[in-house]
Amino acid sequence: MTLLQPLKIGNLKCKNNLVLAPMAGITDTPFRLLCLEGGAGLVCAEMVSSSALKYGNERSQNMLKISGKEHPLSMQIFGGEAQTLVLAAKLAEQAGADIVDINAGCPVKKVNKAGAGCVLLKDLNKLENMVASVVKNVKIPVTLKTRIGLTENNFLTKDIVNLAINAGASALVLHGRVASKMHNGPVNLDELSKAAKLAGGKITLIVNGGITKPEEAKILLETGADGIMVGRGAIGNPFIFKQIEDFLNTGIYREPTPKERLKKYKFLIQQNINFYGERVGLNRSKKTSGFWINNFAGAAKMRADFVLCQEPNKALSLLNLK
Ligand SMILES: Cc1cc2nc3c(=O)[nH]c(=O)nc-3n(C[C@H](O)[C@H](O)[C@H](O)COP(=O)(O)O)c2cc1C
Repeated sequence: MTLLQPLKIGNLKCKNNLVLAPMAGITDTPFRLLCLEGGAGLVCAEMVSSSALKYGNERSQNMLKISGKEHPLSMQIFGGEAQTLVLAAKLAEQAGADIVDINAGCPVKKVNKAGAGCVLLKDLNKLENMVASVVKNVKIPVTLKTRIGLTENNFLTKDIVNLAINAGASALVLHGRVASKMHNGPVNLDELSKAAKLAGGKITLIVNGGITKPEEAKILLETGADGIMVGRGAIGNPFIFKQIEDFLNTGIYREPTPKERLKKYKFLIQQNINFYGERVGLNRSKKTSGFWINNFAGAAKMRADFVLCQEPNKALSLLNLK
């Protein structure tokens, strides 16, 4: 069986089945472009609040902006009400998204308080109706991203796969951890394999969780899912998609050197500065410094000096290795 293959989501064909996960504060335009260059077949934007879009919030509207080159792109929306999600999905479609994804997995309190994210798993009929309403009202493929359940003693895998199929979603993204585990601990491969059997040919299944190297991507693909999604493993290593591709094709892959990673980080910082302006661009870049500046002698000092530096050119000049 070829594990690496093109990914079909509704009428959209992605060149491979290696997907960048949506990550709030991380997967913005500069980072998405970097991951496409790094070999991702599909990239996902950070979640956008449907009610903020409904009330014309400027920051949320800006999050829908797409640069011409970042395709295929999935735009994720969250909310607790069908009508508001439909409105947000239409805006994402108008903005040029190739896919609109509904978040039913986020365990963050602020999101859950608004009746959105993983709490939607408490009422699967309501969730099915919400997804079906969005499917009916946009032309682009609609996908659902959720988890295998809320708690360990109550897996919802079977019901979730069925609801995604019944609602007419084009793909289901399943994070193999329950909501109470947040983003920690091992993923449940048994539940993901079960989902793959149930999905088999009826809906595209993308599985997610814990991929930091190609060997782990292979294990997740061996569940029988159609594709995998990489989250934190891509921060500081947007080359991971190409590494996975090489590993699946040849059984070997190359680790980027610290010098190569710093070069890519500097490129990203420059792109962030161009995109957000000097202050915001530099500060946003600093948030992920721990993912980029590591695994070489002197990394801790370089990171500390970089984080303290407020002047962009000086900050960039600190990121050099002899
Ligand atoms: C900083 C951060 C932000 C995230 N934001 C989102 C989000 O906006 N939407 C979403 O569906 N999941 C979000 N997630 C969850 C990821 O998409 C992914 O499901 C999770 O990190 C597990 O994958 P991983 O183990 O490969 O990181 C976020 C995760 C992190 C670490």
